[in-house]
Amino acid sequence: MDKLVIEGNNRLKGEVVVSGAKNAALPIMAATLLTDQPCVIKGVPSLRDTNTMLKILRSLGKDAEFDKGTVRIARGKDTGSFADYKLVSTMRASFCVLGPLLGKLKKAKVSLPGGCVIGVRPVDLHLKGLKALGAEISIEAGYVNASAPKLKGNSMYLGGVYGSSVLATDNVMMAATLARGKTIIESAACEPEVADLAEFLIKMGAKIKGHGTPTIEIEGVKELHGAEHQIIPDRIESGTWILASLITNGDIRIKNCCLSHLGALVDKLQEAGALLTKTDGTVRARLRTKLKPVNVSTLPYPGFPTDMQAQIMSLMTVTPGISVITEKIYPDRFMHVAELNRMGAHILREGPHAIVEGIKNLSGAPVMASDLRASACLVLAGLAAKGTTAISRIYHLERGYENIEQKMQGLGAKVWREKE
Ligand code: EPZ
Repeated sequence: MDKLVIEGNNRLKGEVVVSGAKNAALPIMAATLLTDQPCVIKGVPSLRDTNTMLKILRSLGKDAEFDKGTVRIARGKDTGSFADYKLVSTMRASFCVLGPLLGKLKKAKVSLPGGCVIGVRPVDLHLKGLKALGAEISIEAGYVNASAPKLKGNSMYLGGVYGSSVLATDNVMMAATLARGKTIIESAACEPEVADLAEFLIKMGAKIKGHGTPTIEIEGVKELHGAEHQIIPDRIESGTWILASLITNGDIRIKNCCLSHLGALVDKLQEAGALLTKTDGTVRARLRTKLKPVNVSTLPYPGFPTDMQAQIMSLMTVTPGISVITEKIYPDRFMHVAELNRMGAHILREGPHAIVEGIKNLSGAPVMASDLRASACLVLAGLAAKGTTAISRIYHLERGYENIEQKMQGLGAKVWREKE
């Protein structure tokens, strides 16, 4: 296994280009299961997770090729409806093949995804929505068996105790495109990645309205055809580069950055003292004034994204004053706290809250990545820290950040890879 080594405490400057959104690409790749016709998806980042989805599609009988950011999917020899534990357990998002398989083949056997370090990751809302469409669902030996002689449109409420669910909305919306009649999803997820999936489905011939709002309406059609689509920019990667500029008191221009997808983060960072200026598709991120502490609570979109919680915590560890960070989506999503404290941070975990007392400088140290966004937070901390930081288990980072060390080196970071 590799580790990433960072010589910190130098200001990042220059230009970086954001890749396509991992969390849009994954469900959109799964949506190609809804048609036998060829699909072309552009702007797909080359990541562990997108590679896993290619393997899953091939295991389900698709010809799936990836070349320089473009994924070409066509019907293979025979289509299958069985998504194996070996693949699904390596990436939870693979559970979003369930909806399209059910929609197209009217049956599916998909491994339950299992949990991960950020939480239990239940799928009750996925199953509730698919049952509402008429699917018979049983769970045995860790697999979901779903079948539906025919799917019928229905109205349903998909909100859970933590609010809306991104992938449950995706699964149900995909299945509903081929159900008979109208489906209305209340308390649907509004994330830009869900809206991007809907745009792809519409290009395939689906009839969808209200995507990006809490109420999505789908009028079922008989079949869907192939389509071509360009993935939206990755808003979480964009947010990570904005924070990299602020935490090193740098000056970074971020290309292919859609700031309108980051309203809550921009609002908080401007309150903290950031200066974000936009010219066409490029955002320039600098400090306007000395950083001030801010309080953050994560919420479903358009609220502050849980996928940026660890990253903004890094910034607050070196911001004089007290900030309170509350995690309302995944209350256990604090694996990064212990690692940041190893670098000298003063963070107190109190249930779903982390109370951060800002210090002058973090100190470089050997730390361990635990999940994708925690690893991004440790990279940010390493960039700011005095001394050398070695981040082990960086396969977590490779799941969601394309060419990250090359991009950081392009901004003047002293970062390299070593064997563990
Ligand atoms: C998506 O996961 C993202 N992954 C996650 O990003 C992101 O953190 C999450 O949405 C929230 O924004 C992808 O898009 C591939 P949810 P998802 O269902 O859809 C609870 C990353 O770093 N819930 O919106 O699995 C759940 O436990 C990843 O890129 C139920 O209770 O998340 C959580 O508390 C990490 N029942 C809340 O809802 C369900 O059936 C939101 O989860 C489903 C979810």
